[in-house]
Amino acid sequence: MTIHIGAKPGQIAETVLMPGDPYRARWVAENFIEDAELVNETRGMLGFTGTWRGNRVTIQGSGMGMPSLSIYANELIRDYGAKTLIRIGSCGGMQKNVNVRDVVLAMTSTTLSTPSSGMFRELNFAPVADYGLLSAAHAAATARGVATHVGGIYSSDVFYDERPDLTEQMTRHGVLAVEMEAAELYILAARYGVRALAALTVSDSLVTGEALPSEEREKSFGDMVEIALEAAFN
Ligand code: HPA
Repeated sequence: MTIHIGAKPGQIAETVLMPGDPYRARWVAENFIEDAELVNETRGMLGFTGTWRGNRVTIQGSGMGMPSLSIYANELIRDYGAKTLIRIGSCGGMQKNVNVRDVVLAMTSTTLSTPSSGMFRELNFAPVADYGLLSAAHAAATARGVATHVGGIYSSDVFYDERPDLTEQMTRHGVLAVEMEAAELYILAARYGVRALAALTVSDSLVTGEALPSEEREKSFGDMVEIALEAAFN
C-alpha cells in the first residue's frame, strides 16, 4: 500500500496502462482483460490487474493533469516496480490533417511547466517516448489500418486555455495535439529508467471544432487500447 494506491505488494503488474478516467480503467478491464481483479479504489481512482494474451497487466487511472498523473506514476514505479507505463487517453488535434478518431503517438511533448519544472529550474528538459514502444505501437496501428500520426504534442496545465496565441505558435511549429499528462510521464520514466509512451485518440479538433460523438468515443478508444497492449507485449 502507498499513500494513494491501496494495492498489496505484488498486485500491480510490471506493465501498466493509464487512462485519465477511472471509469475508463474499469471499461478496459471489463472488455479487454482476462481475470481482471480490482486492486485499487483509493479516492475512486480505480485500478485492475489481469492478463492479456497471457501477459500480466494493470490498468490504473491517472486522473486529469500532470500533478495527478505524477502521484500515481511515482508510486507505481518506485513502490510497485512498474517498468512499462503507457498512457491511453484523448487529445485535441492541432493540425488540419489530425482528425477525430485518428491516433497520435507522442514522440515528445512541449510544456509551459510540469511538476518537475521546479527541480529542473532553468533547464528545458526534452521528454521523449521509449522508441521501442513507439515503433511497436506504430506498427500495430498501421497493421489495423488506423490513421496514425507520430510527432510532438503539447501537455497543457489547463483545459480552458486563455492563450490562443500559444496554440497558434504550436500549430505553426507542427505540434500535433494537446492533452494534459504525457510530458510528466516521460520525465518520470527517464528519471527512473523505465519505458513510457502516450497513445492518444483524437476526440476533438481545435482547428475545425469537430468533436467525436460520445457513442463513438468508445470504439476509437478500443482501437487505441489494443494498439497499446500490442506495443507493450510486442
Ligand atoms: N485540451 C486539453 N486536453 C484535451 C483536449 C483539449 O482540447 N481534448 C482532449 N484532451
